[in-house]
Amino acid sequence: MTENSPSNPRKVIVVNGSPRKNWCTAQILHSARDGARDSGAEVEYVDLYDLTFSGCRSCLACKRKGIANPCKCYWNDGLSELLEKIYRSDVLITGAPIYFGEPAAGFRALFERLIFPALSYNDYSTQFRGRVDTTVFMPMNAPREYYDAHYVDRMNEFFAPMRFLNGKTERIPVCDTLQVSDYSKYDMRGFDGDHKKARHETEFPKILELAYQIGAGRR
Ligand SMILES: Cc1cc2nc3c(=O)[nH]c(=O)nc-3n(C[C@H](O)[C@H](O)[C@H](O)COP(=O)(O)O)c2cc1C
Repeated sequence: MTENSPSNPRKVIVVNGSPRKNWCTAQILHSARDGARDSGAEVEYVDLYDLTFSGCRSCLACKRKGIANPCKCYWNDGLSELLEKIYRSDVLITGAPIYFGEPAAGFRALFERLIFPALSYNDYSTQFRGRVDTTVFMPMNAPREYYDAHYVDRMNEFFAPMRFLNGKTERIPVCDTLQVSDYSKYDMRGFDGDHKKARHETEFPKILELAYQIGAGRR
């Protein structure tokens, strides 16, 4: 872990991979941002869905022989600046809501663009020369038992390439989240709104506190 010092603060970048700017993923990441800021880190918060971008276009410019910087995404769009900022950070704290059993599409696009340039097609090692510690929060409707039975293996597989950023990698499932504030207003009989609300009140504050501590670099 990179220590904070006034002359060399930790560089923390926080990326909200949910299209909703104030719901579960965002609230967790706001807390992480606050923890980072209060610890004296240099912190930037980005709402991914404010940017205009696509996933990897398979231009393969990052695999051309003789390029100056192999660990760079050469496709130019609204993601380019963010990718460079992440590569220059000490810590990436991000969150991806789970859609259809996978991280949401915007996050997948970010992941492809961030990690593919790091992957060497010569020997499958990393071409990234820095080190970025990563934490990914994964809010989802699924209860913890469902996550353990059906999602955990595929998340481990999906996120394994995070190791190409050479840092500590951490994933935190956030299960059984509140999806709407008033379930009685929606056709959502598959969910017990009272249960969701009660869980949100007891469990979600613990996740916010955990995010704060992670942001502060205390765990
Ligand atoms: C299009 C869509 C697909 C979803 N698919 C799943 C799913 O497969 N499994 C799951 O547990 N939750 C699923 N959810 C629920 C979200 O993961 C959950 O509400 C999460 O808390 C959303 O994050 P947010 O509050 O930051 O928007 C889905 C939600 C949407 C909108």
